[in-house]
Amino acid sequence: MFPRGSSTSLHLVCFTTTMQTVLAAAEVDFTQYVNVFMGSTGGGNRFPGVTASPFAMAKLGPDVQSGSTDAYSGYLASGNVWGFSMTHESGTGGAPKYGVVSQMPTVGNVSNPLADLSQGRAAADEGQIGYYKTVLNSGVTVELSATDHAGLYQYTFPSGSPSTIVVDVSHVLPSFRGLGWEQHYTTGNFSFSSDGHYEGSGTYNNGWNLSPDWTLYFCGKFDQKPISSKTFKGTGTTLSSYDKTAAVSGTERLGGVFTFNKSNLTSRVGISFISSAKACRNLENEIQSKTTLDSLMAKAKSAWNSQILSKIQVEGGSDEDTQLLYSSLLGMFMIPSNKTGENPGWTSSEPYYDDIFTFWDTHRCHTALFHILEPVAYEEFIRSLIDIWRHDGFMPDARSSNFNGRVQGGSNADNVLADAYVKGVRGAINWDDGFSAMQTDAEKTPPNNHDPKSPEASTKEGRGALPDWLKYGYITSSFKRAVSRAVEYSTNDFGVYQVAKGLGRVDDEAKYLKRSRNWRNHWNPAVSSTGHSGFMVPRRADGTFVSQDPLSCGGCYWGDAYYEDNAWVYSLNAIHDVYTMKRYIGDDAKFVDRIDKLWELNIFNAGNEPSFTTPYLYNFVQGAQWRTVERSRGIGKLYNSGSTGLPGNSDAGAMEANILLYQLYQLYHLCRAVSRLDGHGADTTFSYFQTQPWDTANLAQWQMIGLYPMTGQTTFLILSPWFPSLSISLGNGKSLKITTTGGNKDTAFYVQSLKVNGEPWDKAWVSWYDVFANGGRMDFVLGSSRVDWATGELPPSPASGDTDG
Ligand SMILES: *[C@@H]1O[C@H](CO)[C@@H](O)[C@H](O)[C@H]1NC(C)=O
Ligand SMILES: *[C@@H]1O[C@H](CO)[C@@H](O)[C@H](O)[C@H]1NC(C)=O
Ligand SMILES: *[C@@H]1O[C@H](CO)[C@@H](O)[C@H](O)[C@H]1NC(C)=O
Ligand SMILES: *[C@@H]1O[C@H](CO)[C@@H](O)[C@H](O)[C@H]1NC(C)=O
Ligand SMILES: *[C@@H]1O[C@H](CO)[C@@H](O)[C@H](O)[C@H]1NC(C)=O
Repeated sequence: MFPRGSSTSLHLVCFTTTMQTVLAAAEVDFTQYVNVFMGSTGGGNRFPGVTASPFAMAKLGPDVQSGSTDAYSGYLASGNVWGFSMTHESGTGGAPKYGVVSQMPTVGNVSNPLADLSQGRAAADEGQIGYYKTVLNSGVTVELSATDHAGLYQYTFPSGSPSTIVVDVSHVLPSFRGLGWEQHYTTGNFSFSSDGHYEGSGTYNNGWNLSPDWTLYFCGKFDQKPISSKTFKGTGTTLSSYDKTAAVSGTERLGGVFTFNKSNLTSRVGISFISSAKACRNLENEIQSKTTLDSLMAKAKSAWNSQILSKIQVEGGSDEDTQLLYSSLLGMFMIPSNKTGENPGWTSSEPYYDDIFTFWDTHRCHTALFHILEPVAYEEFIRSLIDIWRHDGFMPDARSSNFNGRVQGGSNADNVLADAYVKGVRGAINWDDGFSAMQTDAEKTPPNNHDPKSPEASTKEGRGALPDWLKYGYITSSFKRAVSRAVEYSTNDFGVYQVAKGLGRVDDEAKYLKRSRNWRNHWNPAVSSTGHSGFMVPRRADGTFVSQDPLSCGGCYWGDAYYEDNAWVYSLNAIHDVYTMKRYIGDDAKFVDRIDKLWELNIFNAGNEPSFTTPYLYNFVQGAQWRTVERSRGIGKLYNSGSTGLPGNSDAGAMEANILLYQLYQLYHLCRAVSRLDGHGADTTFSYFQTQPWDTANLAQWQMIGLYPMTGQTTFLILSPWFPSLSISLGNGKSLKITTTGGNKDTAFYVQSLKVNGEPWDKAWVSWYDVFANGGRMDFVLGSSRVDWATGELPPSPASGDTDG
C-alpha cells in the first residue's frame, strides 16, 4: 500500500501564469500550452519524456522503480530512477513494454555495475516538448532531448568525484502483476570501437503481446574520452567479469562502464532494429557531435507545432481548457511509432508503423481524429497495416516489437480501414489488397497461439472465435469472451461490408451486411434487469441462451463472456444498427431510459472503451440531443490537464479474486474513470484489468470539438463545443470552423440552434461530406435551456434497413 496522496510533485513548470487565450497567429508556439505530465500518473500511464516528433521511434525518458508498481511508460512520480532509456510506450496498460537501451549516471567509481544503482530524486522532474530534466539525489542533473531515432543525454555531475555512466544491456521494464506478461532479457552483446564509441544489441521477449525474441541495436558516443572504460558480465548481482576491454556477448547480464574526470558530460545514442551500423548511421544523421540540446528542443517544438498543434486553433477558452486541448494532442501522437526503414521483418517499399496498442482502444475515436489531423501519416499508417497483412498474414489488432498481439475482442483493423475508405482516403493505398486483408479477418481462422489467458483460440490476430461465427452466426461459450467478441465481429463485418460496397463487390456487400447483424443472435428478449428486458447474453450450440444477470459480467476478463464490461454496456454497442437496438429495447422513451440507467446504476465508465459511444446515442431519438450534451459535459468534467490531484489508495499486486466481486469491479471502474481522465489518484487497486487510456485523450478532443465519430461511417454526432471559436486545419487550405455564441462551456451549454455552412440545421448529426471533405462551418448558439432543436432527420443506422430483424 502507498500512503494516501503519494504523488506529491507538481510539474507545471512550463506554463506562464498569464496565458494568452487568443491563439490565432501562425507563429504562436503552441507547445507552451502543453503539460507533458498530463495523464502520466494515476493510471494514465502517459509518457512524459522526450518524443521529438509525432510518431517518433525513439522515446527517451526515465525508468522509475517503486516497490512492485508497474511503470508502464517508465515514469512514476515517486520512486527511484534506475536508468534513462531510449524506448517506451505511452498510455498503455497490460504490462510495461520496452524501456531498453539505457544509461545510468553514478557519482564516483562503480565497483559493481550489477548492483542497485538507482537514485531518488531531489526535485520533481521537469519537462516540455523536446526536453526532460531529472535531478538525482546523488547530485547528478540529467537533461534529455531526442530525435526520431536517437537521443542526447546531458549530464552535470557534482565536481570532485569521478563521473560514471553505466550501460546495462539487460535493462528492461519489469512487470510485477504476475500475469505472465513481463518482459525478459534473453541475450546481448556490447563492444568498444577503436574510435571510442560503443555499440551492441539487446534481445528481449514477451510483454503484453507475448512476443518472441526481438532485438534492438544501439550505438553510443560521448563528447570526451573516458579515463576508464570496461565491459562487464554477470548473473543477478554477481559479476563474472569486470575489467575487460574486450567485447562481451551471451545470455548473462552485460554492458559497459565509462568513467570520466569531468563533471559536464554529453552522450549521444542512436538506435535501430536493423543493425548496430544502422544505429550509428541514425545517430550521425540526426545528432552530430556539435548538436546542442537547445537546438534539438527547438526542432522538436517546431515539429509538434507544424505537424499537429497548429492544426487546431482556439479562441476564448479558459487557460485550463486550452492546456487540456494541446496536452491531449501531444498524447494522441506519441504512438504508433513510424518505423519506416526500421522493419527487421521484411523488405518493402511500403511505410511501416508499429506500437499499435491497441485498435480495441483506438478504433472507436482515435483513428478518426488521427485521419483529420495528420492525413499524410494516416495514409502511410493504413498502407503499413495492409503491408503487415501481406507479410505476416494478418493485420494487427495490437502490435509492438514487430509482432502482432493481442486481440481482446474483434479484428478492429477492419473498422479502421472502413472508416478511412468511406471518408475517401485513397492516395497510394491498394484497396483491393486492403479488402483482401479485411476478408482474411472475416474468413480465415488464425492458428491458435495457446495464450494461457484464453487457450481455446488465437489471441494473436484475426478472429479466434471465427469457427462459431461462421457456423452458428453467434459465438458459443466454447469460446471465451463470446458476447463481447460477437458484438465486435458484427461491427468488423460491417466494416468489410462498407469497403465491399465501395469496391462494387455486390455479393460480398450483401453477405457482410447480413453478417453485421449477427449481434442480434445473442439478444435474449426474455432477460430482464431493473425494468428493462432484452440483453445480449451467451448462447449454447443448441441455440438456448445461458442465463446470466445482465448486471454481472462474471469476471469481466479474458476468460469470461464479456470483456471489461457487462451486458448493459455491450447491448448498446451495435452502433451500425442502432435502430434495431432501439426496437429491441422498446420505444424512444425506453431507449432513453436504457442509456440513463447506466448512470443510475453507476455502471457507466467514461474511461472504458466499450462505453465510449454510449452517451451520445441519445442523438438517435428526436428531441434528446440535450441529453447527449448533458452527459458529455459530465464526462468533460472528469478531465484536466494536470498529472496529480486527489489522493487515492494504491494496493499494487491486486489479486484476481478481488475483481470477481461485482461491487469491487464497479468501484474499480469509478476509480479508473476518474483517475485515468483526471490524472487523479492511483489506479493499481484493481490493476488486474489492463488500462490503455491514451485514447481517452481523444475522447476529450472530440468533446471539445463538439462532435463524435461513428467509426466506420461518415456520421458525426453533434455534442456541444467548448470554445467560442475553434478551427481545424484540414490541409489544402480547407478548414472546419466551429463557433459558439450566447452561452458558455460550463453553465449554459445546451444547443439552442445551429447553422451548418450558413444554413439552419435541424439534425443531431453531420456527415463527413458536410463539413470535413471540403471544409465547412458550424455556428452554434448555446444557452441554459434544454431546447428540442434537432427535430429533423435522425442519424443513419446503415445495418437496420432490413425487415426481418
Ligand atoms: C576510480 O577509477 C579511476 C580509473 O580507473 C582510478 O584512476 C581512480 O583511482 C579510482 N578512484 C578510486 C577512489 O578508486
Ligand atoms: C550480437 O547479438 C546479436 C543478437 O542479439 C547477434 O545477431 C549478433 O551476431 C551478435 N554480434 C556479435 C558480434 O556477437
Ligand atoms: C583528467 O582530465 C585532465 C584534463 O581535463 C587531465 O589532464 C588529467 O590527466 C585527467 N585525469 C586522469 C586521472 O586521467
Ligand atoms: C556544466 O554545465 C552546467 C549546466 O549546463 C553549466 O552551468 C556549467 O557552466 C558547465 N560547466 C562547465 C565547466 O562546462
Ligand atoms: C515516416 O518515416 C519515414 C522514414 O523516416 C519518413 O520518410 C516519413 O516521412 C515519415 N512519415 C511521417 C508522416 O512523418
